[in-house]
This record gives sequence, C-alpha cells and structure tokens, in this order.
Amino acid sequence: MSLLSLCWLYMCFVMSNDQQDFNEELFKFLNLWVNGFMVLVIISAVLVGYCILLLVRTQFCQSTAQWNHVLKHIQNNYCLTLSFYFLTPGSKVLIAVVFLVVSVVIFLCPLLIHSPCLIHWEELPEKPKLIGHRGAPMLGPENTMMSFNRCLECGVIAFETDVQLSKKRIPFLMHDHGEGFLLRTTNVKDKFPNENFSNSTNLTMAQLQTLNAGEWFLKERETARNQTIPSLLELLKFAQQHNTSVLFDLKGENQENDAQDTVETILNQGIDQRLILWLPTSGRDNAKIHAPRFIQVYGNESERAKHNGHYLNVKYSMLKMEKIRDLRKQNVTVNLWVVNERWLFSLLWCAGASSVTTNACHLLKEMDRPDWVLVSNAAPGHLLALAVHFIMKQ
Ligand SMILES: *[C@@H]1O[C@H](CO)[C@@H](O)[C@H](O)[C@H]1NC(C)=O
Ligand SMILES: *[C@@H]1O[C@H](CO)[C@@H](O)[C@H](O)[C@H]1NC(C)=O
Ligand SMILES: *[C@@H]1O[C@H](CO)[C@@H](O)[C@H](O)[C@H]1NC(C)=O
Ligand SMILES: *[C@@H]1O[C@H](CO)[C@@H](O)[C@H](O)[C@H]1NC(C)=O
Ligand SMILES: *[C@@H]1O[C@H](CO)[C@@H](O)[C@H](O)[C@H]1NC(C)=O
Ligand SMILES: *[C@@H]1O[C@H](CO)[C@@H](O)[C@H](O)[C@H]1NC(C)=O
Ligand SMILES: *[C@@H]1O[C@H](CO)[C@@H](O)[C@H](O)[C@H]1NC(C)=O
Repeated sequence: MSLLSLCWLYMCFVMSNDQQDFNEELFKFLNLWVNGFMVLVIISAVLVGYCILLLVRTQFCQSTAQWNHVLKHIQNNYCLTLSFYFLTPGSKVLIAVVFLVVSVVIFLCPLLIHSPCLIHWEELPEKPKLIGHRGAPMLGPENTMMSFNRCLECGVIAFETDVQLSKKRIPFLMHDHGEGFLLRTTNVKDKFPNENFSNSTNLTMAQLQTLNAGEWFLKERETARNQTIPSLLELLKFAQQHNTSVLFDLKGENQENDAQDTVETILNQGIDQRLILWLPTSGRDNAKIHAPRFIQVYGNESERAKHNGHYLNVKYSMLKMEKIRDLRKQNVTVNLWVVNERWLFSLLWCAGASSVTTNACHLLKEMDRPDWVLVSNAAPGHLLALAVHFIMKQ
C-alpha cells in the first residue's frame, strides 16, 4: 500500500516539471485550454485511493478470518503456544538472519545514492543563470512584451522565443505553428471569425498586431489585457536596451528562407550580433557567413561536437550529470530546458550547468543555494556508511 502511494507521489513529483508541455499538447487535441495535468493528477489520485481501499479491505477480511481461526484453537485448548506452533528453532534463526541482512542493506543503501549534490560546499559550482522561456509565462502571457519585462525582473541573461515570418516577411514572435497557430494565445476567432489561418504568411504584421495576445492568460490583470504579438525587432531592441541575449528557434516550414530574412532583419537594424543565440540548424551556414558574431547554439551533443561548438542547448533529461560536468570542464556552455522545479534546478546546479531555460524564473531566482548538498550536513549514520565505503575501497 505504502509502496503504491509512494510510486504515485514520485511520478506526480517528477512529472510536475513538464505540466506546461502536457497542457499544450492537450490543447492541440481538445482545442480547449484546460489544466489537464491537474485533471490527470486528480483522476490518478482517485484511482490510487480506490486501489488502496481495496487492499485495506482484503487485508481486513483476511485478518478477521485469521482471528476467528485463532479463537477456535484457543477454545480447543491449544492455547497460546499456537502462534509459534509452526516455528522450529531452525526457522527462527533463519528469520533472525533475514531480518539482520535486511537491516544491514537498508543501513548501507546510502552508498548507492548517486547524486551530483554529494559534494562539499566549496566544490559547489556557480548558480546556473536563468533564461526566460517565452518570457515569464507564469507571470505574463507567453511571448509578449509584458512577459519579457517580467522575466527581466528575475535577472535573466537571455530571452528564449520562437520566430515566424509574416506575409511581408517580417519576423514575429509566436510559438504555435501550422493549422490553428493563433488559436491558443490570441483572440483570432473574434477578429477573423470566418478565416482559418494555417500559415504564418496568411497575415501581415499589421493584421497580426490587431490580435490580442494577453486576454486568454488572465482576464483580471490590466497589463495582460492589452498585450499584442510583438515583432522580433521589438524584442531585440528591448534586449539590446537591457543588455540581454535572445535565444530563438524558427517555427516555419520554409526554414532556409525564413533564416535568411531573419538574419537580414537583424543586421539591417544594427542589433548587436553578440546578443543573438542562434539555434536554427537550417540557415546556420548562411548566418555564420553574414553574421559571424552571432553565438552559434547547438541542439544536440553530436552536432555540437561535429562543429566544435561552444554552446549546447538540450532538454534537461538528455544529458547525464557526469556529462554536464565533462562539458563544463571543456569550457562548453550548457543550457538545459525547461526547468521549473526547485529540486531539478538544485541537481543541475550541483552538476555545474551554465544556465537553464525556465517558466518559473520568479521561483528559481529566490534560491541562494541548492535545496540539498549532502556531505556537509550528513547524519551520523550516513557518515558511518561513508566510512565503510572508504575502508572497502582501500
Ligand atoms: C481549416 O483548414 C484546414 C486545411 O487548411 C482544414 O483541414 C480544416 O478542416 C479547416 N477547418 C475549418 C474549421 O474550416
Ligand atoms: C506557408 O506558406 C509558405 C509560402 O506561402 C510555404 O512555403 C510554406 O510551406 C507554408 N507552410 C505550410 C505549413 O503550409
Ligand atoms: C494560408 O496560407 C496557406 C499557404 O500559403 C494557403 O494554402 C491558405 O489558403 C491560406 N489561408 C488563408 C485563410 O488565407
Ligand atoms: C496598454 O495599456 C497601457 C496602460 O493602460 C499603455 O501604457 C500601453 O501603451 C498599452 N499598450 C498597448 C500595446 O496598447
Ligand atoms: C553586457 O553583458 C555582457 C555579458 O553579460 C558583459 O560582458 C558586458 O560588459 C555588458 N555590457 C554592458 C554595456 O553592460
Ligand atoms: C542532431 O541535430 C542535427 C541537426 O538538427 C540532426 O540532423 C541530428 O539528427 C541530431 N542528432 C541526434 C542524435 O539527435
Ligand atoms: C577553459 O577556460 C579556462 C579559462 O578561460 C582555461 O584556463 C582552460 O584552459 C580552458 N579549458 C579548455 C579545455 O579549453
């Protein structure tokens, strides 16, 4: 029973970091913005609760049956020797040995803990920097200037965003792409009730900017109410003003063309090239030629190694903790996405990650140390286990 509830708690805990992704995927199926993660947690809680109830019931029935059995035996003058009736001296020793072994195993299992946080405080790497994932989507509607403003207040080093090109080839900020790409985050249904936009090039920038991109997020907050879709330039100027980088991907189908026009837009406006963290694979060669001071960011380790790059950007689950340490030793900047929970941020901090892309910069900025670094405040039992470990190694 406790094992079942423990497993359930663990799964909820681990999944909670990715609940935003889950809800977005759900929107694609339902065309409805609901907190599906919470629904899933509640349904699974009910199911687990029901299973536990069943287990308790069978346990209870069994023990009453056994108890009746015992009472019967007492009545028949078998008396109290009954409970040890079936235990020979040999099996008692066996039980004692099993008990001892299990205790020792439980006592020694801290030796099996592999955590990057098994270090001394002095060895703790610098705190990873923060990159605002579409701004600060928990504080303001994603990919709007309000959201970028809010994450700037967290002291982020870069804005992460997504770029598509409009009808007259103006890059703008929008994550969703393909059919219904405006449905989730704008009021496109109210503005264009009879149209069915499936391509970023369906609308001009002027048309796009008539859409409201904030109302869906929070009906109450005045600042959220009048947010619109920003152009890439708008964000770049804001970034330059605050000496903050911009990390973005291209979402359109026609990436080579989009990349070319995007590079041109950036260069024409005299944006400082060193603020651009260039992620798109297509157009990378072109970007390297025309904008040599863009920072080239690679989306997987093999690609980075092939180009001898200095900047890696991958999902947090794609790199082992030791690998992060290795890469940092080789002076590779390692950014992990998308990290929203304190426990995960703590682990990556201990491992030495350079930065994380986050939805929750307001939570992570508050941390001035990882939630746990094990050795420095180890319990006596744990110290003994370490001593045994040390002796065995000799
Ligand atoms: C929208 O257009 C797509 C193809 O572009 C089509 O499959 C879909 O049925 C259309 N939906 C509506 C509501 O017209
Ligand atoms: C969007 O339109 C552009 C040009 O009009 C085209 O190259 C691209 O493939 C289209 N994308 C989709 C998803 O249809
Ligand atoms: C959007 O663009 C696509 C590709 O260019 C085209 O097939 C589609 O008809 C356009 N839809 C609207 C509503 O303009
Ligand atoms: C939104 O409203 C604020 C104040 O109410 C105003 O300063 C700002 O310019 C407005 N922004 C847009 C995009 O309309
Ligand atoms: C901008 O930031 C970079 C690195 O974060 C720093 O090296 C540089 O001095 C800053 N420039 C200004 C003008 O603050
Ligand atoms: C790494 O990225 C490149 C470019 O995006 C891609 O072609 C390649 O398949 C990726 N490799 C792996 C192992 O995912
Ligand atoms: C990493 O950078 C440091 C300081 O910039 C330098 O001393 C060290 O040699 C570099 N290591 C590698 C593997 O390039």
